[in-house]
Amino acid sequence: MRIAVCASEGAPYVKSGGLGDVIEALPAALAQIAGNEVALFLPYYKKIKEAGDKYPVELVSQYRVMLGWRQQYAGLMRLTNRTDGVQVYFIDNEYYFGARPGAIYGDIDDGERFAYFSRACLDAMLSIGYIPDVIQCNDWQTALVPVYLKAMYRGAMPNTRCMYTIHNIEYQGWANASFFDDVLGLPWEYRGTLDMNGSVNVMKGAIETADLVTTVSETYARELMYPYYAHGLDGILAGAAWKLTGITNGIDVGTFNPETDSALPAHYNADSFVEGKAACKAALQKEVGLPVKPDVPLMVMVTRLAGHKGLDLLCYIARRLLWEEDCQLLILGTGEPQYENFFRNLANEYPEQCSAKITFNLGLAARIYAGGDIYLMPSKSEPCGLSQMNAMRYGTVPVVHATGGLKDTVPPADENGEGGLGFTFQSYNADDFLASVKRCLNLYHHNRDGFRALQHRDMCQDFSWNVPAGRYMDLFYRMLSW
Ligand code: GLC
Repeated sequence: MRIAVCASEGAPYVKSGGLGDVIEALPAALAQIAGNEVALFLPYYKKIKEAGDKYPVELVSQYRVMLGWRQQYAGLMRLTNRTDGVQVYFIDNEYYFGARPGAIYGDIDDGERFAYFSRACLDAMLSIGYIPDVIQCNDWQTALVPVYLKAMYRGAMPNTRCMYTIHNIEYQGWANASFFDDVLGLPWEYRGTLDMNGSVNVMKGAIETADLVTTVSETYARELMYPYYAHGLDGILAGAAWKLTGITNGIDVGTFNPETDSALPAHYNADSFVEGKAACKAALQKEVGLPVKPDVPLMVMVTRLAGHKGLDLLCYIARRLLWEEDCQLLILGTGEPQYENFFRNLANEYPEQCSAKITFNLGLAARIYAGGDIYLMPSKSEPCGLSQMNAMRYGTVPVVHATGGLKDTVPPADENGEGGLGFTFQSYNADDFLASVKRCLNLYHHNRDGFRALQHRDMCQDFSWNVPAGRYMDLFYRMLSW
């Protein structure tokens, strides 16, 4: 099958969050399947361009992209050193991507930048004669791919089907009504497809025009039927429920492997984790300035410090937790100033028990997954969440809010640590969160064998992309049968 994946970020080239991880691993997993041909399209951001020696490219075509009254240049650059069967193409335009300093999102004209990119992906395929059976596109940035495909590329790609995947419904791609004529240049009958309350909403357009819609866990797919989770799109999604499926992400088990991870001071697997994690824990406590205490449970969190990650719950219980329990707390991440300040202050107040690393550091993140005992993830909503899986793979027991992908990947254990993979709480409430953390600490303190059995079970799970990639294939075949 000929597959094209379109996305605004993909590791290792460019990543701002979980989408980048998925776009690193999913195309690779699809390319492993016999008979598949996989091409990945990404913008040629300044940052990728500047890393030219790491990511050598050749120019394979040049063309113009129509955007309303604009005609914009596109250069299609093929990466020449990828070896796993995925063809990676970067779309080069100096004005939209090359000359922008800093972050990949957040410019005033992001709507136009990614409208350009979405259309440029389709034109890229035509320019090199790569007519895919299936296009898979992701989040608001590439939401216009199915819209353009249906509205303007049917002649050139009559049999191409399109799957649209929602990683996070909070960001939908809103624009003023004038964006429709000025930038998109779509036929007028698509105005209603994109219209939402008098504005343009590109995610809505994708939901309506894609052949199938997926999201990144089964539970999140169901949650999206409710206003609480759907950020205004519940009605649209209810209408599209027949074509909405949840497929829980995997993680890159090659990169996230405690046996080989070069960031770790000691290596281990499911049989040797007791000694291996003890060594990693001692080194970690030292690295972050906490007292080296092997028998004090170390609770950790690697996260963007954003409200929906459940930090309000943690802030509410943090002092009580440190006061009442023999435990340590370590946070790594950056984000909203009120949370950065809260954790800095907490670390100053409780230097023996709390450390806050307000920074972004992938090596330290790996050492935290390995050296921690307990991983906290009380997210308010979580489409899938990847770090709870990273934590389990490294033998760190998750305590999570039972929502979205957290619910699907962390079935609840009982107070003996049996029958599940971690500790969960149902309602988004700080006392319930505290109670589940305490159940976990209790197991650690009073039944270490039970705690270790739980860690062992966590490490033995298959979080690879094999199963989800197979599910994507099933849906691809379903679209092709129509
Ligand atoms: C988004 C979601 C996260 C998910 C990731 C990859 O970042 O917030 O839950 O794991 O996308 O699909």
